[in-house]
Amino acid sequence: MDSTGILFLTLLLLLSQSPASLSLTVSTSEAKMEVHENTDAVLSCQFKTEKETNPRIEWKKKGKDIHFVYFDGKFTGSFAGRAKIEGATVTLHAVTQKDSGLYRCEVSAPADHTNLGEVNVTLNVLVPPHTPFCEVPSSVLSGAGVELHCKDKLSVPPPTFLWYKDNKALSATHTPNIVYSMDTDTGTLKIKSVSKADSGQYRCEVSNRVGASKSSVAHHMKVIEYPLSMTTLIAGAVGLFLLILICCLDVCLPLTGLLQKGMCKDYLTKKESDGVLHQMTWHPQSPNLNPI
Ligand SMILES: *[C@@H]1O[C@H](CO)[C@@H](O)[C@H](O)[C@H]1NC(C)=O
Repeated sequence: MDSTGILFLTLLLLLSQSPASLSLTVSTSEAKMEVHENTDAVLSCQFKTEKETNPRIEWKKKGKDIHFVYFDGKFTGSFAGRAKIEGATVTLHAVTQKDSGLYRCEVSAPADHTNLGEVNVTLNVLVPPHTPFCEVPSSVLSGAGVELHCKDKLSVPPPTFLWYKDNKALSATHTPNIVYSMDTDTGTLKIKSVSKADSGQYRCEVSNRVGASKSSVAHHMKVIEYPLSMTTLIAGAVGLFLLILICCLDVCLPLTGLLQKGMCKDYLTKKESDGVLHQMTWHPQSPNLNPI
């Protein structure tokens, strides 16, 4: 059909619809649904037909591609046996995070002027905090930088994280002389340079608006101090180095000099006796090699 044909049909359709007549309408009482995991989700879809007494109702879910939820009077796939329909409103029982997504209610009423109507309903399944998984090093050297991680990938919406040291909450907004930094969104606690005072029990707590906060088990972090202070260590190293240097100048240097002289003499006598031809036979694959 060409474009003038489509235009003609559209005009005809518009003219045939008297403004007084009721046409098919499809609506929802809640376009954005938020329900807790394991509860029922009611996906509302209401319709009014003009003349049609047996409209066709279909529900689809949009994921990577669109698939049917309700088709030909039946729930399909994973929805079979755990959903019900009343009018066009669908109730999904015991929803999980996998049920989150965009749903569409489609109503077709062949006998009506406007014979197709649809409405979208977004379902967001909320998940309370899960016990987080934490990574805390068991021992660190004093003066080193350290990162503590906390993860909870299952909670919806994503939780906020709070770290505790010896059951005392570490403040997220810290004083200007920052000793540590805490990211409440990613769950990472960074200590720039650990000191003995940082030894202790660390745990992390996750919370979102859905349910009770959950805490990880406490992990002990031990800060090991160097037996000697850094300056003593450096001074010692410098002293040792000087001692070796003096020893070398006095003893080792004349000794190595003698050794080198001896080796050089050996090498020269060996070269004289070997002869050039003998050396070349060892490299037949490189005939361009010039005899020295
Ligand atoms: C429903 O959402 C789809 C996008 O997935 C959009 O194309 C369509 O127009 C929407 N329908 C309504 C009635 O808002």
